[in-house]
Amino acid sequence: MSRESLVNEIRKLAQEKNAIILAHNYQVPEVQDIADLTGDSLALSIQASKTEAGIIIFCGVRFMAETAAIVCPDKKVILPVEEAGCEMADMLNAEELTAEKAGLPDVPVVTYVNSTAEVKAESDICCTSANAVQVVKSIKAPEVLMTPDKNLAMWAQRHTDQKVHYWAGYCPIHNDLTVAAVRKAMAAYPEAVLMAHPECAPQVLDMADAVRSTSGMLSYAAQSEAKEYIVATEVGLLHPLRKQNPEKRFYAASPEMVCKDMKKTGLEEVLKALQTESPEINVRESVRLKALKAVERMMAVPRD
Ligand code: 13P
Ligand code: SF4
Repeated sequence: MSRESLVNEIRKLAQEKNAIILAHNYQVPEVQDIADLTGDSLALSIQASKTEAGIIIFCGVRFMAETAAIVCPDKKVILPVEEAGCEMADMLNAEELTAEKAGLPDVPVVTYVNSTAEVKAESDICCTSANAVQVVKSIKAPEVLMTPDKNLAMWAQRHTDQKVHYWAGYCPIHNDLTVAAVRKAMAAYPEAVLMAHPECAPQVLDMADAVRSTSGMLSYAAQSEAKEYIVATEVGLLHPLRKQNPEKRFYAASPEMVCKDMKKTGLEEVLKALQTESPEINVRESVRLKALKAVERMMAVPRD
C-alpha cells in the first residue's frame, strides 16, 4: 500500500471506530504527522484522561499506554507494537521498590511516569520530566525517594532543599550522551543554544542553556530569539522542532541519540492496530487503582 493510501485508510478507520491517535514527540515523523495529538508524556496522559474517544491508539512505548489504561479504564488502549518498551522502566520492579522503601521508612516515593504500572502502584505520586521539580516541592516532607531515573532525581535535587534519595536507573539514550559529544556539536555550531532533557547526565545539564521536557523544548524554541539550537534529546524531537519553526535550525547533540523502542511503530503497525483493535494494554484492577492515586496526585500539582 502506498504511503498516501495508508494515511487515508488510517484516518478513515480512526473516524469510523471513534479512535484517537496519540503520538509521543519521539515517534517517527510519519506517525507524528497522522496523529490527532502529539506531545510529551505529561501532555499525552492529560489528553488520554480527557478524550471522549472509545479507543486510544498510543504510538509510544508500553509505560505510556499503561498510563492511559490507568486513567481511562472504560477505554480500549492499544499499543501498536507490543514489544515497544522502555529500558529505564525495566530497571526497577515492584519488589525492588518495596525493599528500597523498607530502608527509607516514611519517605514519600516520587516515581517518574517512565515506570511500570506495578512500580507506580507502590509510589505516592508520579511525575514527568515537565513537572518533576514542582511535584517534589509539593510534598511536605524533608526527604523523598525518586525512582527510577537518577538523572531526573539529581536535577530535582538542584531545585529543592529537601533531600532527594534516588534509584540508580537511567535512560541509556540520554545518559550515554557525553560532554565530549556536546563539545563537538558546540564547536560545529558556535552560535547555537543548547537545550537538554533532564534525563541527561548532570555534567551535560551543566552545559545547557535550557533544561526541558520534550514539549518544554518546543515551547522554548518557539519563544526564544535564537536562530540555532543543539538538541540533547532523542532525535525524534527534531521533526516537530523543524516543522513548527521553519526559519530556525536544529541539530542533534549526537546522531546516536536514537531510542529503538520509539522507532518500532510505523504506519503499517498503526493501521493493523486499528483494524484488529489489538494489542490491547490492560492493567490489573488492584494495581490500576493504586497507580491511579499516584497519577491523580501528580495531575493535581499546579503547573507553571
Ligand atoms: P518527555 O516527552 O516527557 O520529555 O519524555 C521523554 C522520554 O524519555 C519519554 O520516553
Ligand atoms: Fe525509555 Fe529512554 Fe526510550 Fe524514553 S528514550 S522510552 S526513557 S529508553
